[in-house]
Amino acid sequence: MPGFKVAIDGPAGSGKSTISKRVAEQLNLTHIDTGAMYRAITYYALQQGSDLDDESSYQFMERIKVRYDKDRIYIDNIDVTDQIRTDLVTRNVSKVSSFPYVRKILVHIQKEAAKGVDVIMDGRDIGTVVMPDADLKIFLTAAVKERAKRRQKEKEVLGIQQDIQALETEIIERDRKDSTRKESPLICADDAIVIDTTHYSVEDTTNRIIEEILKKEKYHGRTTNEGR
Ligand code: DC
Repeated sequence: MPGFKVAIDGPAGSGKSTISKRVAEQLNLTHIDTGAMYRAITYYALQQGSDLDDESSYQFMERIKVRYDKDRIYIDNIDVTDQIRTDLVTRNVSKVSSFPYVRKILVHIQKEAAKGVDVIMDGRDIGTVVMPDADLKIFLTAAVKERAKRRQKEKEVLGIQQDIQALETEIIERDRKDSTRKESPLICADDAIVIDTTHYSVEDTTNRIIEEILKKEKYHGRTTNEGR
């Protein structure tokens, strides 16, 4: 039985994961943050001391198991949710996610995870590659300055002070890499609804997406979410 599928794409710091998580909680959907999977592979490769520039370094992906479950990410059943948020991982994840070999394996895992469940999945290529048949596609954007401010606040909560200019530069660079890579770059699907969150709160955007979901007949006719 095909589930109800929502694809959320957008650049770094547009609020995708936070908002997807809220929508999932309120509408009983399974949330999958695909960025966490690319980060997990980056973390593992760094831990192994792999040459990150060499695509063949990632063959370890044949042997390990990556799983996203209830907002936690696991490698071989070890929870690495906190370890994937370091600056070192953030600085390297765009490079790692540009390799077709890495993408092929993760896209396969993501497609399998979406099968038969009511899901909200967020990333860069969800509406275009992972779930081109999604029932609803949303593309979230926000001005760079605002995205940098949000990152700064997130870091403050963790007790880290970071210069806003440095954060802006990092975001611009990651946007550039994610949007210009050859393999499934960040682009807005033709049939996506674009929401600019610059002047919206998390709650506003969450409600806006919920409104769009509730307009869909299929959402009301769905079966229970087997994935939960
Ligand atoms: O959403 P995030 O910032 O945690 O994602 C980390 C990186 O992973 C991002 O810079 C690009 C990559 N990514 C991707 O290439 N495709 C996805 N579906 C999700 C993330």
